[in-house]
Amino acid sequence: RQLRSQVACRGDIETWNASFLAIYESLIPAEEEKAKQKQLLTLLERVVCKEWPEARLFLYGSCANSFGFPKSDLDVCLTIDDAEINKSDVLLRLADMLQSENLQNVQALTRARVPIVKLMDPTTGISCDICVNNVLAVVNTKLLRDYAQIDTRLRQLAFLVKHWAKSRGVNETYQGTLSSYAYVLMCIHFLQHRRPAILPCLQGMKPTYSITVDDVDCSYFDQVENLLGFGSHNREGIAQLVWGFFNYWAYRHDYANDVISVRTGTILSKRAKDWTRRIGNDRHLICIEDPFEISHDLGRVVDKRSIRVLREEFERAAEIIQHDPNPCVKLFEPY
Ligand code: CTP
Ligand code: MG
Repeated sequence: RQLRSQVACRGDIETWNASFLAIYESLIPAEEEKAKQKQLLTLLERVVCKEWPEARLFLYGSCANSFGFPKSDLDVCLTIDDAEINKSDVLLRLADMLQSENLQNVQALTRARVPIVKLMDPTTGISCDICVNNVLAVVNTKLLRDYAQIDTRLRQLAFLVKHWAKSRGVNETYQGTLSSYAYVLMCIHFLQHRRPAILPCLQGMKPTYSITVDDVDCSYFDQVENLLGFGSHNREGIAQLVWGFFNYWAYRHDYANDVISVRTGTILSKRAKDWTRRIGNDRHLICIEDPFEISHDLGRVVDKRSIRVLREEFERAAEIIQHDPNPCVKLFEPY
């Protein structure tokens, strides 16, 4: 309502909706990309099953969560159902085998936080990271994909927010800003909180999907085809939502006390999670609870300097949407 009263005198909210939607459409990957990804996955499956006939490959991350941009890397998880395996040995052996295929830049990074094999497939032009037994990532990818099916406004909002974050240089975890995964969770949480709500809280409903991974219970309601009209009482368009999102993170979020939680569909207190002080490198300056690994704060990468950068960027975005006659240009201006 606030946005509408402002734009009433300055232009037409429908024009803004159309501009944001045009940007969103331009960010959707072409169908051919899916086919190329499938082609590379088939090649990888053929190689893997020679050595580990029981193993399986799963896609995760942006190539599978429906929030992927064109030309995003393929994130693949190799699962081997054997508690005895040594991940480094598997990755080194895998790298060896992939080297003898027509693949480039094959490299095993066994000391990374998430150890992987990296490669580039010259036939499709796709770069790919393969990790081992990172099943939680596969499951949280499914959760994001399921949320995306309920209401298209989530995909629209998350694409625009990711595009903004990449343009403004605040999508770099190694520089203390947030991962794409964190931004998508922020969007889901925001839409769970619109009134009327645009998204439900899937983990708060009777589970229809249930799996335990690394002792973490990952159950939730996944029959999302039954929830397609969920947000229909809320008629807000994308311009209103983009404005609301940035306004929330610029002026409404209580950084000192609050934790956003997609798992519960509520705001939790930092005190209840014992996220009130710095422990090691975790400072908890912006708190985003992982939906399954609930001791993980996805804001833990943010430090004293980068929280300033982030908050200034949220404020800049909110101000542009509030005052600029043509916000779509300035909002995404490279930093
Ligand atoms: N992931 C995770 N925990 C994190 C970060 C990432 O489990 N702290 C997993 C999630 O499954 C996520 C995937 O790794 O979907 C990839 O993360 P990220 O690169 O942040 O997101 P993408 O969707 O791949 O976005 P981008 O287009 O920027 O690559
Ligand atoms: Mg990625």
